Amino acid sequence: MVLTALAVGLLAAGVAVAAEPDAYAGTNAAARGVADPTRAWRNYALNCQGCHRSDGAGDPDSAPALAGHIAVFTRMEGGRAYLGRVPGVATSPLADDELAELLNWVLWRFDPEHMSAGFPPYGADEIGRLRRSPLRTEAATTRAALLARSDARP
Ligand code: HEC
Repeated sequence: MVLTALAVGLLAAGVAVAAEPDAYAGTNAAARGVADPTRAWRNYALNCQGCHRSDGAGDPDSAPALAGHIAVFTRMEGGRAYLGRVPGVATSPLADDELAELLNWVLWRFDPEHMSAGFPPYGADEIGRLRRSPLRTEAATTRAALLARSDARP
């Protein structure tokens, strides 16, 4: 009985896991700097969702929402650099190419409606450069200053 319930539970979890990368299907992933959406999604699950949640909803106690919000930073001066230097991104253990891919994936996966038209995808070199000067204690004030700007509004 218990084993059956466990198997059903695992099956349900397996279905959910298998379905997630499909949420990205139908988009031009490669042109958006996401060579492998499944890898990007796994990297998100392993490195980011503990704080930002699997659906990007965030958590008032740990991290801001990415869903429906994150891409406003692609529309403002300084926003592009901020996303590469924010601590959770810059200090992740991922290599530059996978981190660039993950950040591109996060933008398109969680907030396609706010993406700036023609936003060039992050590349490994750019992310490598940005993460060498990660934001530290000033992350919150940098974030607040960016969001206070008029072009932060969708
Ligand atoms: C320990 C919790 C934590 C983890 C893990 C984490 N983040 Fe964050 N993230 C935050 C917090 C808190 C902020 C707000 C800025 C700050 O104060 O650092 C943030 C901000 C961001 C932002 C800017 C959004 C905004 O509204 O300011 C992005 C993009 C982001 N995180 C992506 C990621 C990615 C991608 C990963 C995984 C590689 C990740 N984060 C891992 C806590 C986390």
